Amino acid sequence: MSLNPSSKYSGLAMTLHWLVAVAVIVTWRIAESAEHATKEARGEIMGNHFALGVVIFSLVAIRLIWRLMNPPPPRPVGSAGWERMLGKTVHYAMYTLLLVMPLAGWFAMSSFDSAISVWGLFDVPKLPVPVNEALGEQIFEVHAIAGTTLLVLIAVHVLATLKHTFIDKDGTIFRMLPFGTAKS
Ligand code: HEM
Ligand code: HEM
Repeated sequence: MSLNPSSKYSGLAMTLHWLVAVAVIVTWRIAESAEHATKEARGEIMGNHFALGVVIFSLVAIRLIWRLMNPPPPRPVGSAGWERMLGKTVHYAMYTLLLVMPLAGWFAMSSFDSAISVWGLFDVPKLPVPVNEALGEQIFEVHAIAGTTLLVLIAVHVLATLKHTFIDKDGTIFRMLPFGTAKS
């Protein structure tokens, strides 16, 4: 079987996809480990969570701009209408959360009168919002719920990829990998 380049995402899209995937899993594990840490250690651990959040936001923004200029390859001809629809909805929902969660985190930090340090390299400045710690805490509560929602979407996304690849045998996973053959 010959490899059909039009059934694959571009090299940049693949690179950004896998970088974001790893960064999201790591940032989630960091937030989880902070839960069980002492109060002193928590600040430092969460500093990594905040900084990675800024990185994820930037990578997703680049991905979306690139996506506007380079639309994704069409799904294989055989896939059902509802499956395409669900796939698109899950993708857009993940993109929305990956942008809104760091933005909400930035707003909440600003409500605490704090800038976000990106590993001491630079600070994301505070937004000019009134200091309101109660609001900041509420935003972070919603942020944690959004985080759980994102994890559920990721689980659905991974299961769907595996179902397409191994049950439908349409090579879906190879759409996002530089090797292998995906059905067009
Ligand atoms: C862990 C966090 C992950 C996130 C946030 C994520 C997010 C996304 C998003 C937003 C897209 C849509 C790309 C676009 O059209 O612009 C996508 C596509 C894709 N992802 Fe993931 N992904 C993750 C993990 C994974 C994993 C672990 C796999 C493999 C099992 C995977 C396989 C794929 C494939 C094959 C596509 C292309 C789907 C298609 O159009 O046929 N992803 N992913
Ligand atoms: C896309 C990027 C981000 C993702 C995927 C993400 C994900 C998560 C997840 C899953 C949790 C919940 C952990 C748990 O339930 O134990 C969480 C908690 C938290 N995140 Fe993020 N986060 C992101 C960006 C940020 C940013 C940029 C900030 C701050 C500037 C931030 C601040 C927090 C805080 C303070 C908590 C603790 C909330 C609480 O338990 O009350 N996050 N995050």
